Amino acid sequence: MISGEQQATLMDLAEEARAHSYSPYSHYAVGAALLCQDGSVYQGCNIENASYTPTICAERNAFFKAIFDGQRSFTAIAVIGSGETPAYPCGVCRQVMAEFCDGDFTIVTANRDRTVVVPQTLSELLPHSFGPKDLV
Ligand code: THU
Repeated sequence: MISGEQQATLMDLAEEARAHSYSPYSHYAVGAALLCQDGSVYQGCNIENASYTPTICAERNAFFKAIFDGQRSFTAIAVIGSGETPAYPCGVCRQVMAEFCDGDFTIVTANRDRTVVVPQTLSELLPHSFGPKDLV
């Protein structure tokens, strides 16, 4: 788990990222900030599409930017949505996390005004996951 201070800083960056959201269809803006083990942070936002299915979530946007840059080890991600309830990562994003992260990877979710901030681990959100270990 990350410290309370790290959590707050990461959530600030996720909130900043949410401002970049392109979400004219759902009007649900999401921002994410991904902390790598080397200390660098990658931000992501959701980007929607008129054809709907090409839409990418904020979490995967952040992960794919980091992966492109050669990052492979991750510590935590903060996610903030524009709803009254915390923005929990969707199943597809959890599966992407399982590709690159251990079970103790921290996922901090928040609602729009950060009155609810919930830290949890990947193994809590995606128990018994299928991943690279199953294909060796
Ligand atoms: N969304 C995310 O960005 N992350 C999630 O974990 C859940 C959903 C986005 C996708 C879509 O643009 C909007 O929220 C509504 O589903």
